[in-house]
Amino acid sequence: MDFQAIRKEYENKGIDESEFPCHPLSLFRDWLELAVNKCPGRWFEPNAMALATAGSDGDVSNRMVLLKDIQDHGISFFTNYDSAKGRQLRSNPRAAVVFHWPYLGRQVRMVGTVEKTSREVSDEYFHTRPRGSQLSAAVSEQSREVASRKELDFAKAQLVEKLNGQTIPLPENWGGYLLSPGQVEFWQGRLDRLHDRIVYRLDDQWTRVRLSP
Ligand SMILES: Cc1cc2nc3c(=O)[nH]c(=O)nc-3n(C[C@H](O)[C@H](O)[C@H](O)COP(=O)(O)O)c2cc1C
Repeated sequence: MDFQAIRKEYENKGIDESEFPCHPLSLFRDWLELAVNKCPGRWFEPNAMALATAGSDGDVSNRMVLLKDIQDHGISFFTNYDSAKGRQLRSNPRAAVVFHWPYLGRQVRMVGTVEKTSREVSDEYFHTRPRGSQLSAAVSEQSREVASRKELDFAKAQLVEKLNGQTIPLPENWGGYLLSPGQVEFWQGRLDRLHDRIVYRLDDQWTRVRLSP
């Protein structure tokens, strides 16, 4: 297959930063809401983001996670605190995320610091998840080696039997992280690859610049 022949033209309207709000998360909320409203089908998850982390040894890794909330100062996602990402975030609480909405020709990137959400927030979200997802989170030692699929199915079946319809307690090592960005970039694909890039940076307050594509 000729991958070089794959060439999409971005024919979107440009972005006018003079109309942008002072706070990037307010603009991000608008972009995400548009991405949700224009989503081409249930197979696409507009709140999915690639999350990059790095350990204190300099090793880097990334993976997809789902954004579950936008607060005044950050965005949150949920995971296992003892997973590979959880271990990296423990030693180096900084992360970068990127969202891509191909049907809008848009990308948003954020870099910032990460902290755990409160136990109450995690507990509340955990119990809004379908029971099957709660059970899976409770039995999954995320990112650890398992001998077989059978082992996982067996562990879940055992927990189903043990709990027998009772409330599933929030696992000690499961919960949310809040990423508070210090930098947020909005990218709009444009004709002939002369794209728009607007970056917000936080010092004492948020400032905004345009970058060359
Ligand atoms: C679209 C998509 C969404 C995902 N959302 C999450 C999520 O919200 N939380 C999570 O822990 N893993 C999620 N995963 C799985 C992660 O990508 C990853 O496999 C897992 O968290 C283990 O990563 P780690 O070993 O780097 O910690 C998602 C995967 C995909 C493809």
